[in-house]
Amino acid sequence: MCMKVLHLGDERLRQISTPVTEVTDDLRATIEQMFELMLKSDGVGLAAPQVGIMQRFFVLIAEDNVKRVFINPQIIKTSTETGSFEEGCLSIPNQYETIVRPLQITVQALNEKGKPFTLEADGFLARIIQHEYDHLDGILYIDRGDPVFKFKVEKQFAERKEKHLAREKAKIAKATKIAEKKAAKATKKA
Ligand code: NI
Repeated sequence: MCMKVLHLGDERLRQISTPVTEVTDDLRATIEQMFELMLKSDGVGLAAPQVGIMQRFFVLIAEDNVKRVFINPQIIKTSTETGSFEEGCLSIPNQYETIVRPLQITVQALNEKGKPFTLEADGFLARIIQHEYDHLDGILYIDRGDPVFKFKVEKQFAERKEKHLAREKAKIAKATKIAEKKAAKATKKA
């Protein structure tokens, strides 16, 4: 399977994912593929719906370089103290915005072996967990920032998608024309 990161404008990024029912070897293989894709893309976190898998899990690597997997995560506590941090997202390339979120969180999840764990996180790690967790509910960081920025970015990506579709359509039209000419020539010869 060729895994690809979906971009803003893809409906799947806006859907609510369903819980993982069983942690299998297949899931572990998918998780490894996600780590590979994330590292190749210079990302620090990647959630399953971002690659079109509508299930509740994500992977991340924070500054301690530890590969972390969160399956069926639940954020059970958030601090009232908040902080600002500039966020980006592999599904919204080349865009960054300062987003306010709680500084500390406590999260419960299953690891890649299916074993439950509880983690108290702060700083960059807490930030990534919250960002990735949002993806499981179809929420993007642009929903939590300036609505003007969100509007601008959504418009830009919609236009990009339209242009891409127009180019694809033109390619098909050209190929059809060439095929028709060839067919006409062949008929004449006959
Ligand atoms: Ni993201």
